[in-house]
Amino acid sequence: MKVVSPVAPIPKSSTVAVTGSAGFIGGWVVHGLLQRGYRVRACVRDIHDATRTAFLKAMPAYASGRLTLHAADLNNPGCFDNVFAGCHGVCHLSHVSTYDDADYVRRTCDHIIASVEGSGSVARVIVTSSIAAVMSEADMSELVRRPVLDEDRYPDEQNPKRTPERGQGYSMGKVLAQRAFSEAAAESGRWDAITCCPGDNIGPILSAHQKDMGPWQHLIEKMLNGSGELFQGTGPYRPWMTVDVRDDAQCHIDLLESAAVHNGERYIAWSTDTRRMEDICADIARLLPELGFQVPPVTDPSPDRIKVREAEFRAIWAGCELRNDRIRSVIPITFRPLDDSIRDCVESLLSVAGTTVLRR
Ligand SMILES: NC(=O)c1ccc[n+]([C@@H]2O[C@H](COP(=O)([O-])OP(=O)(O)OC[C@H]3O[C@@H](n4cnc5c(N)ncnc54)[C@H](OP(=O)(O)O)[C@@H]3O)[C@@H](O)[C@H]2O)c1
Repeated sequence: MKVVSPVAPIPKSSTVAVTGSAGFIGGWVVHGLLQRGYRVRACVRDIHDATRTAFLKAMPAYASGRLTLHAADLNNPGCFDNVFAGCHGVCHLSHVSTYDDADYVRRTCDHIIASVEGSGSVARVIVTSSIAAVMSEADMSELVRRPVLDEDRYPDEQNPKRTPERGQGYSMGKVLAQRAFSEAAAESGRWDAITCCPGDNIGPILSAHQKDMGPWQHLIEKMLNGSGELFQGTGPYRPWMTVDVRDDAQCHIDLLESAAVHNGERYIAWSTDTRRMEDICADIARLLPELGFQVPPVTDPSPDRIKVREAEFRAIWAGCELRNDRIRSVIPITFRPLDDSIRDCVESLLSVAGTTVLRR
């Protein structure tokens, strides 16, 4: 049953804490919140690590004090207590050290939840999940049976193959976190938890270190410099199912502000644009002919037992229907075309990270 929250959206220009602020999406959430006039407490593990925090300190709001940096590792209970005190909203974007240990993931949720409860001021938490928590199937035939990828869909939790050992830990951990926050918020009644499930984030990096995160921007970097093996991403022959990182950040902030959402709900943030990895590689040359980019040969590292089923797997993915009508019904978002995201990702890799390009 849907839990209807009595909590009003957070006030304009109030204070919002962002976990994972040095990350690819977190950095854009910080940027977007500042653009809208909020005061932002950016949480990172090491505020003195210039490679990861210099881009935050270079934001104009850091000079005035509207943006502040805070050291917090969610492995340590209580470390967000002081940071969240006085905040109205929290965007919880950070990864955890591992998703393969459910007890550990639960503990990290409990640490954040306890700090939210203790703050006495936080009214809404945006919990960043993933489309993996929508569609990561231990058995691909489940995607044939339930091909509509929307907010009501969960991976088959009864499948005995749904285990961390079989690569399901990430999506299991994300579902666990969604429920932990929703249940704690319902019990509290003083705050609500809204889950955002982003698609594959493409777009500009804000700091050189973000080129190694991702994985999508890292794959584009590898395409550009022709180094290493190109791999398919997650799931055999799954096309990229994308969202621009700037649109994803907007989704997080709009959900934070929305009066139309309720505790326990989740929203998928993707444009519904999909593209095959090898086409993205070729797109770089199409979108930026000035680069003289030499499209590298696409290697397929899949084991033979997967390769023989390529056509079948591609057909399964092609039969899936990606939906974003629910998030578009509650926030005013127009998703960018994927071509813009690819172009801006490439240009940022060149200008921010000094990525070298394999040229003809
Ligand atoms: N990128 C995507 O395409 C995508 C798609 C779907 C969902 N997501 C989800 O979106 C969120 C952000 O993803 P992202 O791509 O922006 O990740 P990212 O660039 O790898 O950044 C994640 C951040 O998590 C922080 N972190 C890791 N372990 C931590 C810990 N124990 N305590 C505190 N902070 C910790 C790191 O902080 P420090 O830098 O301070 O060490 C890092 O900057 C994640 O929850 C991810 O699962 C991402």
